[in-house]
This record gives sequence, structure tokens and C-alpha cells, in this order.
Amino acid sequence: MSKGSALLDKACEGIQSGEVEQSLSELKDSLLDYRAELGPELWSEFAKQHFSEHPIRKIVHQSPFSHRSYTRPRGYAGDAVTLDYIYGDLSPNGLSPFAERVFNWERATPSAEAVRGRRDLLARYIDEAAAATQTPSILAIACGHLRELRLTKAWKQKQSMNFTALDQDQESLTVLRESYGSDVNVVPGSVRSLIAGKQHFADQDLVYAAGLYDYLPLPVARRLTALMFQMLKPGGRLLVANFHPGLIDIGAMETTMNWWLIYRNESEMAELTGEIENAQIAEQKIFRDQGDNLVYLDLKRG
Ligand SMILES: C[S@@+](CC[C@H](N)C(=O)[O-])C[C@H]1O[C@@H](n2cnc3c(N)ncnc32)[C@H](O)[C@@H]1O
Repeated sequence: MSKGSALLDKACEGIQSGEVEQSLSELKDSLLDYRAELGPELWSEFAKQHFSEHPIRKIVHQSPFSHRSYTRPRGYAGDAVTLDYIYGDLSPNGLSPFAERVFNWERATPSAEAVRGRRDLLARYIDEAAAATQTPSILAIACGHLRELRLTKAWKQKQSMNFTALDQDQESLTVLRESYGSDVNVVPGSVRSLIAGKQHFADQDLVYAAGLYDYLPLPVARRLTALMFQMLKPGGRLLVANFHPGLIDIGAMETTMNWWLIYRNESEMAELTGEIENAQIAEQKIFRDQGDNLVYLDLKRG
């Protein structure tokens, strides 16, 4: 682990000498290489223990983005408030000039860019469903603050929609109710309750999940995909997103943000359809985002 400590020491020195962005970028790259070199077990020990004990943690965590992700005030990483930092829906007040530089650097990483692109893609899918049907039924699973809806033409033009948004986080759902009022049917619920058959949805034009599959092991992800597919009406679409293992931020995310995801490539995304009868799928698309950091599975029900 002495090599790892040296990487962190070097980054500390660079940051303290004023080369904040360059030192953070170099640290990100070297952590990625070090992750590959160590292998999962030693890497986990380094990322969880060594980083937490090193002075760099307090330096980087002056940024509220990595601090929140790392400390998990809601008990899990990647809550909707953290996502709001990425989207620019929450601007922290009273940051020191140094903290602001770290925060801005973190917001400009490829993973943050990809999350903003994902939100924009979701908005386009909602608009496509709204263009195809007068009153579309749309279900967002693990919706967070549902920031994508506000970007849609359909919502801006007050098109009628049966929009349902489901999440397990009550605090996020409160924000959602305050933002959208009666435009959205807000439903407390979880993947677990869906899989247990305690919550049912049907006849949807679009069902989607973003920022969820990255946490689901394959058997759960496959089951959920089949359930979401069954919720569609004929011609309806399912969309799920997942980060790709080629993401260059992984080393930094796992250490400085304590943000551990399950990454999937194209063939692993294809495996998610394993419990759906092939004949029911009218169209299947698997594609990456512009930066090659996210993979999407898009299914159309026949
Ligand atoms: C990374 S955020 C994504 C939010 C939103 N979809 C977006 O893209 O901005 C993850 C969300 O998934 C929710 N979530 C995580 N696990 C869940 C589960 N098992 N059931 C329901 N919601 C879950 C969290 O509460 C959180 O709001």
C-alpha cells in the first residue's frame, strides 16, 4: 500500500501548492491504474481504509459533493441531493475559493457529465412518448427528484400525462411533491416491493430507471427488467441505464466518494432480458452515451 500512500501524498502536495485541478486529475488517473494493479480485495482495503485515514480526505471533502457522497447522510450513496449537485439544481453557499475549485472540478468529471446527459436523454424519451400518445402513461422507477421532467416540452406545454414516480426515499418524494404537485403521482416504493408483487403497474407507454441498475446484482436486475417489461402496453418502451466499466472515474469515485457501483457492458445489459420471452420483444437496442460511459437498454414491447 506504500505506492497508494505515495499517490495520495503527491496529490496533497500538488493541491497545497495551488495546482488543484491538475493534481485532482492526476490522482484520478493514478487511482484507476492502482485499482487495476491491486485487484478487488486489496483495492477495497486501500479505498476504504487508507484513504479515510489520509489527510487528503479532509482536504477533498471541503467540497460538499464528495463529502455528501462519502458520508451518506441518507444511508446510501448517490441520493437525489448528491445528484442535484451534479445537475446544478443545488448550489452550495459559503464555500471557500478552494472548496469551490474542488466542487467545480468534481462537477466536470466524465461521470457527472454522463449523469447530466442521462437526464437529458430521459427527457427526450418522455417527449417521444408524449408525442406518440395524447395522454401517455409513464412510470419512473427510483425517480429521485425527477429533474428530467421539468426539461420536457410535454411538461412545459402542460400536456396531460399519467406520470407516476416511485422511489424508496421519503425525503426525495417530499421534494418531488413540492416541485410537481398534482402533475405527478408520487408513490413510495422499492424494487423489493415490486419484486414481491406488492405494487402493480400496467398499460404504461414508457417505464424507465436511471441510477438504479448500477446498484442491482444480476438476478434482481433481471427480475426487475421482466417486471418492468410486463408493465408496458403493446408498443410501449422500457429504458434502463447503467454505467460502463470503462468509466475513467471509477478509482476516484470509489475512494474519494465512497461510491461503489456495479458496472455493465453491452453483453451484460443484454443479459438483463433473460426472463423476458423473446417473442414479446418487438425491438431491442443497446447503445452507449456520447462519452461511452453509460450503456442503455431500450426495449419495445410487441
Ligand atoms: C442515483 S439516484 C437517481 C435518481 C434519478 N433517477 C436520477 O437519475 O436523477 C438513485 C435513486 O434510486 C433510489 N433507489 C435506490 N435503490 C432503490 C430501491 N431498491 N428501490 C427504490 N428506489 C431506490 C434512491 O432513493 C435514489 O433516489
